[in-house]
Amino acid sequence: MTTILGIESSCDETSAAVIVDGRTIRSSIVASQVEIHAQYGGVFPEIASRIHIESIYPVVEQALQQAEVPLGEVDAVAVTKGPGLAGSLVVGANMAKGLALSNDLPLVTINHLEGHIYSLWLAGPEYRFVPGQPPAEKSDVFVPIEFPVIVLVVSGGHTELLLMTGHGEYRRLGGTYDDAAGEAFDKVGRLLGLPYPGGPSIQKASRDGDPAAFNFPRVHLRSNQGEENYDFSFSGLKTAVLRMLQTIQPGYQPDDPLDDDVPVADLAASFQAAVVDVLVDKAARAAREFKALEVFVAGGVSANAALRKAMIERAGVPVRVPPLSLCTDNAAMIAAAGHYRYLAGQRDSLDFDIRATWPLA
Ligand code: KG4
Ligand code: ZN
Repeated sequence: MTTILGIESSCDETSAAVIVDGRTIRSSIVASQVEIHAQYGGVFPEIASRIHIESIYPVVEQALQQAEVPLGEVDAVAVTKGPGLAGSLVVGANMAKGLALSNDLPLVTINHLEGHIYSLWLAGPEYRFVPGQPPAEKSDVFVPIEFPVIVLVVSGGHTELLLMTGHGEYRRLGGTYDDAAGEAFDKVGRLLGLPYPGGPSIQKASRDGDPAAFNFPRVHLRSNQGEENYDFSFSGLKTAVLRMLQTIQPGYQPDDPLDDDVPVADLAASFQAAVVDVLVDKAARAAREFKALEVFVAGGVSANAALRKAMIERAGVPVRVPPLSLCTDNAAMIAAAGHYRYLAGQRDSLDFDIRATWPLA
């Protein structure tokens, strides 16, 4: 039995979790700061760091208590080393170093994006969708993952399309040139006067909207040779929403109140459809080109119901998505990734440095 304590503090969630054998979540504690940052319309780094300092001890303590695992039974501490906000990362890193030093435990540092990917190792068969088949029943039986897999990581900070050929083996196919997918949701949510974070707000507003009401651009970037590549760009889409708002409500500027007759639901649904279309098209094309056996979607935006539905319909291969509780930042996914790296022999020094920028591949 291998027991990993995971610690995550890269952005605005302070989290700790205990995972056994890379699959069983014994505890997963997430202290979210989202309500505090909502008043600023985005994450305020200095405040995030200060709250992490206050939360980290109680969060780790609670994770160990709830798991009923004393530190003496923990095999290793896995911690997010980056990418993320430096002042936030350093809080989790120092906590992990302190625990490792005082309890003589090995340290395993994890890339946050890899953490998101390993949330799929914590997803039961009911989160694996096979084309043309009804969803599997909830059970403890894990359907083994066979490589290669196409992975789409879509969060507030990242939009990455990767080919995963084995544990810890990635080839980057493409990513965003400007805004991350979640960032686009957050910015457009703000334009539409919806509460932060924009992703869940836009999903909710879209329920009463027509996704075909506005034909927002689907940007399919091409190489110099004219071939479509696997990169993304979402800033033009955000500008298109702004221009449309200014057509409907002349003189509108960001953060102005919207008139009652602005069709917020239609705008939200049409924006969401444009983002989903591009993400699904590229992931499905990559799955065909690289003969992937499955497509994984992970990160905060993988919670989006329209994205899940379209990916399942159009990927052409089985699709796995994380349970909703594991889409946004959490330490369970960091511990799951840590499990495989620990078994592969990774051990990190107590004086490791955090990496605010750290490409996975
Ligand atoms: O993974 P995450 O918690 O943090 C980062 O690593 O960035 O992702 C947060 C992002 C936010 O931009 C949020 O708006 C987005 O995930 N998000 C969603 C949904 N739930 C969260 N975007 C679209 N639809 C959702 N249901
Ligand atoms: Zn994240």
